Amino acid sequence: SRTAAVIPAAGRGVRLGPGAPKALRALNGTPMLVHAVRAMARARAVSLVVVVAPPDGAAEVRTLLDGQLLPETLEGVEVLVVPGGGTRQDSVRLGLAVLPDDIGTVLVHDAARPLVPVETVDAVASAVRDGAPAVVPALPVSDTVKEVAPEVPQGEPEPVVGTPDRALLRAVQTPQGFARKTLVEAHEQVAREGEGATDDAGMVERLGVQVVVVPGHEEAFKVTRPLDLVLAEAVLARRRI
Ligand code: C5P
Repeated sequence: SRTAAVIPAAGRGVRLGPGAPKALRALNGTPMLVHAVRAMARARAVSLVVVVAPPDGAAEVRTLLDGQLLPETLEGVEVLVVPGGGTRQDSVRLGLAVLPDDIGTVLVHDAARPLVPVETVDAVASAVRDGAPAVVPALPVSDTVKEVAPEVPQGEPEPVVGTPDRALLRAVQTPQGFARKTLVEAHEQVAREGEGATDDAGMVERLGVQVVVVPGHEEAFKVTRPLDLVLAEAVLARRRI
């Protein structure tokens, strides 16, 4: 069976400051989303990329991709564009809904991680195709992480309630890879129960299915805040040398 990549790209990107939806902001002149689509299309396993656009922006995204994706990047890879939803979870579900029947493996990749190296994408896809139902790329954390008390009023110091052992923590990236059936079931269950999740693997964990970690990559970081744009442009500049 074939492998597809679903790219949720419908977020506003409020933390990045005012402007266009985050996925459409440029890095060294090229929209983040275009970098992200190229990163998925270059992977050996991927033969279909589904871009989930802002709810009112599917036509604009289609035009943008048609203008910017070079035929050589796309050799043998089809790109579909569908409108997204109000949450990341909704957007991923809308992307899953258009997958053809012969797709057995699904990678879900944030448009906001435009610089993920192809080796990381290939490693995740291979691990799923070798039999793992859910695979996430992740890195050890460099900061010590504290858990704080919930619901502390704004402006008050937050009481620390615990310090998890840093050696056992991992910062999770994308693409996250899944057996299609597992991911679809996880999304159905979460939708039924009306709960949220910040990543797809988290939903799969609730099904009781084992998720495994493979090594992530520093360049797969998420462009969230203004400083991340500076870093992303520096990484791109270094690649061109
Ligand atoms: O907000 P966050 O940084 O977690 O977003 C991760 C990814 O999910 C981004 O690529 C963003 O465009 C996407 N997203 C989406 N639909 C939403 C919200 C976020 O596709 N409603």
